[in-house]
Amino acid sequence: MMTKTAVEENKLDQETEGTRRDFIYVATGMMGTFGLAATAWPFIDQMNPAADVLSLASAEIDVSSIELGQRVTVTWRGQPVFIDRRRPETISEMQAVDVSQLKDSQTDEMRVKQDEWLVVVGVCTHLGCVPLGQGDGDNRGEWGGWFCPCHGSHYDQSGRIMKGPAPKNLVVPPYEFKSDTLLAIG
Ligand code: FES
Repeated sequence: MMTKTAVEENKLDQETEGTRRDFIYVATGMMGTFGLAATAWPFIDQMNPAADVLSLASAEIDVSSIELGQRVTVTWRGQPVFIDRRRPETISEMQAVDVSQLKDSQTDEMRVKQDEWLVVVGVCTHLGCVPLGQGDGDNRGEWGGWFCPCHGSHYDQSGRIMKGPAPKNLVVPPYEFKSDTLLAIG
């Protein structure tokens, strides 16, 4: 027969044992979770863009050789970006447009950082075709901007949707002029 002290000691032992067992369970669980995460990480990580793709996340373009009235296409994040060095008459025409009637109502000022330079992603906002208009002989549509041959969307020289099924203006990508001649996109 155990003394009271012996009973208490025995109880204490059992509690300690229980606590130790809990700790082992928790530790094993953590090891399992950590082990799984460590194993899974290389597989997850390899889905992130590779270094050569990352380098396209931003692009710097020397625009000094682009002449007035000339349009140039560059690639940014795998998409064409249209750069249009607009003539003064085009700028005033675009600024004078009554935007209240437009499907995607934006003033020209909202779409450019410098009046002379229009920079837009060259992907039709309908179903993603590349609109015509970058080449000199291209069909530029009824507003002289861009024309999407897939389903006939017309954009003006601010890249705004004027006619056709496209719901939105051509997207203006994030960009800044690092100097008068250096344009950084992205
Ligand atoms: S994708 Fe341009 S009009 Fe349909």
